[in-house]
Amino acid sequence: MQTRSVLLLPGDGIGPEVMAEVERVIDWHQRHKVIAFNLERGLVGGCAYDAHGAAISEADMAKAKAADAVLFGAVGGPKWDSVPYEVRPEAGLLRLRKDLGLFANLRPAVCFPALADASSLKRELVEGLDIMILRELTGGVYFGEPKEIRDLGNGQKRGIDTQVYDTYEIERIGRVAFEMARKRRNKVTSSDKRNVMKSGVLWHEVIVALHKRDYPDVQLEHQLADALGMQLVRAPKQFDVIVTDNLFGDMLSDVASMLTGSLGMLPSASLGETDPVTGTRKALYEPVHGSAPDIAGQGKANPLAMIGSFAMMLRYSFGLGEAADRLEAAMADVLASGVRTADIGGLATTSQMGDAVLAALDKRAA
Ligand code: IPM
Ligand code: MG
Repeated sequence: MQTRSVLLLPGDGIGPEVMAEVERVIDWHQRHKVIAFNLERGLVGGCAYDAHGAAISEADMAKAKAADAVLFGAVGGPKWDSVPYEVRPEAGLLRLRKDLGLFANLRPAVCFPALADASSLKRELVEGLDIMILRELTGGVYFGEPKEIRDLGNGQKRGIDTQVYDTYEIERIGRVAFEMARKRRNKVTSSDKRNVMKSGVLWHEVIVALHKRDYPDVQLEHQLADALGMQLVRAPKQFDVIVTDNLFGDMLSDVASMLTGSLGMLPSASLGETDPVTGTRKALYEPVHGSAPDIAGQGKANPLAMIGSFAMMLRYSFGLGEAADRLEAAMADVLASGVRTADIGGLATTSQMGDAVLAALDKRAA
């Protein structure tokens, strides 16, 4: 049995509540000798600011770099609305992504059969949905320079963000998309705004060339990002793998969450480059949802996106595909049995949902 080091960063708001449930699930896997963990803990976001005056301390960054994987809750909340921009809670997450080189963000949108009626879309549009949004995560307008508010000296200011992509950044995320499509339904939809953006023109060019050179067997199509947003709510099952930049991927994955019933259902994995020597890659796993300050502390949050993120960790960091399948099947069992948190139309508490997942795991392991 492998022993791996994992850093837990619960963060703010509902982060600690959903992390408490995934810790029980982690413990289940240790008790059943699926894998052993050295668990470390750290602070990120507003709670790190309160403790250290930074969105993540250097000591916790060092722990994140040393860990085999990081499990992340959520950050932010109204309490920190007026802290300086450089140390706002989100800066901790962005630094983790950038400094760990986590360029590939996998955001699967899967509609569990039992939840097809919880979606705001008609059942027939979402039932059986299984798409993968692949978001570039370390480039684009999130990190481009200059990024500032400039005083123009005439009573006016200018807010500037810079959208920038280099060939290698587009190529490496494209590669992940094509490789992934080969293991799924063999189709990639690449999305940009080349009708108005130079970075989009380059994005398109690089994806087309990569496809022609190395992946001609994969079906490739292109959709402008606005049109893709529309298609996602019109006919989402037309997609398999969607590959897009950092900002479009942020928006489109929130849209896609409602296809699955709730933002509380979407897990994600953020992966770095595979080290050619060790064969390992840096990785961080987090629910797509945020810290939900409106329901924090009430025991109402849905822990399934967090638990699903741990399933992705088992699959992508530790090669435990069967254990990941079992955990995802246990989550489906729970939903099929009718257990629902408030976001998917029920009354179950966060820990009752956790209890139900553990019971379903026990049944499947029996
Ligand atoms: C996400 C979030 C983050 C992002 C925020 C919290 C910085 O919305 O992971 O989708 O914009 O990337
Ligand atoms: Mg987002």
